This record gives sequence, C-alpha cells and structure tokens, in this order.
Amino acid sequence: MKLYKIKKSNIDKNGLYANCDIKKGRRIIQYKGKIISVTKSEIDPKFNNERAIYLFNINKKFDLDGDFKFNTARLINHSCDPNCEVFGSGLKIWVYAMKDIKKGEELSYDYGFSFDEDYKQYPCRCGSEKCVGYIIREGSRWRIKKSRKFS
Ligand SMILES: C[S@@+](CC[C@H](N)C(=O)[O-])C[C@H]1O[C@@H](n2cnc3c(N)ncnc32)[C@H](O)[C@@H]1O
Ligand SMILES: [Zn+2]
Repeated sequence: MKLYKIKKSNIDKNGLYANCDIKKGRRIIQYKGKIISVTKSEIDPKFNNERAIYLFNINKKFDLDGDFKFNTARLINHSCDPNCEVFGSGLKIWVYAMKDIKKGEELSYDYGFSFDEDYKQYPCRCGSEKCVGYIIREGSRWRIKKSRKFS
C-alpha cells in the first residue's frame, strides 16, 4: 500500500497526504530529479520566485531540479511545524517521517530557506501555531520574531 496520496491542500494547491498511519522514522518517498549547478538554478527563469519552485538544494554547489511529473515528492508543501524531514546525498534524497503521522495528515517538511532580504517574497500559509508568516528554515525563524517585536 502506498503511504501517501495526492490531495488538494489547505496550504497551497496540491499536497501529499498520509494514506495510513506512518511511524516516526519511516522512509516515505524519494525526492527524484536531475542535478543542476546552483550557478545555473540561480539564473534559470524556471526557478523564478513568481512560480512554484520545485528545487531541492543538495549542497553549496548543486541543486536537484525536481520539476518532473515522476517526482511526486515535489508536491510536499512547507510547514513551520513539519512532520517530515529530508535526508540523503546526490540523487538519493528521501523524505522520512520525523514524528508519528496519522492517516489523513498533510505531509510537510521545512524547505530550509535562509533568512535574507528577500524573505517577504515567500509568505507561509502552513496554518500551524508555530507559523512565523514566511517560509524560513527553523534555525533562522527567531530573526522574524525579533523583527516583529520591534516593528
Ligand atoms: C514544491 S511546490 C509544492 C507543491 C505545490 N503545492 C503544488 O501543488 O505544485 C512549492 C511551492 O508551493 C507553494 N508552497 C509550499 N509550501 C507553502 C507554504 N507553507 N505556504 C505558502 N505556499 C507554499 C509555494 O508556491 C512554493 O513555491
Ligand atoms: Zn508557516
């Protein structure tokens, strides 16, 4: 039985949802794509902020272009309180459950976006209690809370 299914999401367009209860640590789906250099992805209009971005950053030099139909994992949305995390190297990138997930819950992971001058271009609609309003990686979210406090 497949662990996930595609469904309309409350966060954004489509998302992946748990098709059954999933235990913490379980490997759920592979993030498939083609390796491209960061230098290329930074200038390619395909990865322009105005469009949905299907890109997974592997390291400083390489990204995984996941904009292919065969890459069902591309539909996983970001959350500030995610239930999945992504591990791996090169082309072997997998999405794992980081907590027990109940059937029907939307799968999500932290997109890992850094905090920079562009952060307002990525408003977050994850709807979780921990949501900071923008898609920013966990380690940088305190910066938003701080700037809100003083604004
Ligand atoms: C990899 S796609 C995710 C799948 C997308 N929902 C779809 O149906 O194609 C990434 C895009 O989804 C949207 N997205 C994902 N998580 C989001 C969130 N928490 N809040 C707002 N938009 C989000 C953004 O437009 C982002 O560029
Ligand atoms: Zn959020």
